[in-house]
Amino acid sequence: MSARKVLVLNGPNLNLLGTREPEIYGSETLAQIEARLIEQGKGLGLDVECRQSNHEGQLVDWLHEARGQVHAVLLNAGAYTHTSIALLDAIKATQIKVIEVHLSDPETREPFRHLSYIGMAAVDCVKGLGAKSYEVALQRAAAL
Ligand code: DQA
Repeated sequence: MSARKVLVLNGPNLNLLGTREPEIYGSETLAQIEARLIEQGKGLGLDVECRQSNHEGQLVDWLHEARGQVHAVLLNAGAYTHTSIALLDAIKATQIKVIEVHLSDPETREPFRHLSYIGMAAVDCVKGLGAKSYEVALQRAAAL
């Protein structure tokens, strides 16, 4: 049997991980995090594919493409978490099992980060663990 597929989608500014506000997001690059997830996936029987975009519509398009094709999506929508009804609607429309991921814990930060549209449709959320949030989320995806 072929491995179950998990898509890891990262939104705006996450391509700058490593240099972006390291006191909040850590010093690892997105490429390093993604490489680890792909390796971790092998051990969990998951085929992990990673993509990043700074564009809301691109993230919506990728969710549409993934419909019926993936076991789950790990989604760190970055700031779109707090603004994007389009992403909320895409998760609902595609009925994909989405696990919301954040390096920081948005609820302990500025009030404008407390609202999560993604959280209104996601099956789970892992946040506040730095890069480890993605690893815990992948473990939870395997168990879904
Ligand atoms: C983030 C938290 C968001 O509030 C922020 O806009 C990001 C990163 C996180 O991973 O902690 O871009 O999603």
